[in-house]
Amino acid sequence: MINKTTDLSVNITGINLKNPVIAASGTFGDGKDYSKYFDLSLLGGICTNGLTLNPKPGNSGIRVWETQYGLLNSIGLENNGIESFLENELPFLSSCGTVIIANLCGSFSEEYVKGAVLLNDSKVDMIELNISCPNVKAGGMTFGLEPSTAYDLVTAVRKVCTAKPLIVKLSPNCPSLSSVAIACVKAGADALSLVNTFKAMVIDTVNRKPVFDNTTAGLSGPAIKPIALRMVWELFETLKNEKLQVPLIGIGGISCTNDALEFLMAGALAIQVGSATFANPFTMFEIIDGIWQYMINNKLSQLSDISIRN
Ligand SMILES: Cc1cc2nc3c(=O)[nH]c(=O)nc-3n(C[C@H](O)[C@H](O)[C@H](O)COP(=O)(O)O)c2cc1C
Repeated sequence: MINKTTDLSVNITGINLKNPVIAASGTFGDGKDYSKYFDLSLLGGICTNGLTLNPKPGNSGIRVWETQYGLLNSIGLENNGIESFLENELPFLSSCGTVIIANLCGSFSEEYVKGAVLLNDSKVDMIELNISCPNVKAGGMTFGLEPSTAYDLVTAVRKVCTAKPLIVKLSPNCPSLSSVAIACVKAGADALSLVNTFKAMVIDTVNRKPVFDNTTAGLSGPAIKPIALRMVWELFETLKNEKLQVPLIGIGGISCTNDALEFLMAGALAIQVGSATFANPFTMFEIIDGIWQYMINNKLSQLSDISIRN
């Protein structure tokens, strides 16, 4: 269906993606299940689940809740730790013929740094520093709420992340996303991805208590798309004015070609698709095909021609 010769490739800080469509962290597992149904080499890239230095059991209680226009999750970064990932998951992912981006998380700075050292020496293509997970009590989003904490963490990770491009994944829950973004770029981020989930909640009115054990969870899906799009649009402008432009990767509720085109027009160089894959596992492949079709119909020769921010 989408095995066409048209060039949709995009270069993000020296790494060539064959198209701008990336599977978002936490929503594609280790790729093995999907590989039974699709050729994963058709994707622009795959972001791994959130990885921490040591294994994490994740959160107790209900972890996923569907609403009319979105999904709330409180997974809590369940994973077997980076060493296990390198041994058991990366060999398969690396053989998929697409760009592999490791999503790195931690509870404190030293943990992030030790994790980054391991990933820096591995076969992953890029590292996405997750300073935006709203579902963990320590670390995660707390690093991404204030410019100074974000700056310190990115500086520390950048120091050891010498061989891989470093993407920093931003939280929409901080008081000033642009200030945090500027701090991250000044600390050495090569690219920024935005956004992670919005802090939200659901109340079980029968039992008269919050649905999630942590009270709050992270909202994703169509409900957040217009807000995420606005954030990409504004951040593009801010970084341009500050002369700190880095590639932006747009995330948030993208579920069809038109959504993806909007983010590319707003200034994103690539996009990630998360929740939509749960509803329709073909979403990313349909979007790749749709972007290709749009370029043909509009006689656009390269992907960057889609942007309206030049
Ligand atoms: C079930 C689930 C698990 C997620 N786990 C992670 C994670 O481990 N690390 C991370 O950076 N983002 C994680 N996210 C956030 C997504 O990568 C993405 O930023 C967010 O869901 C918004 O995109 P979407 O609306 O397309 O889902 C998760 C999202 C969902 C729905």
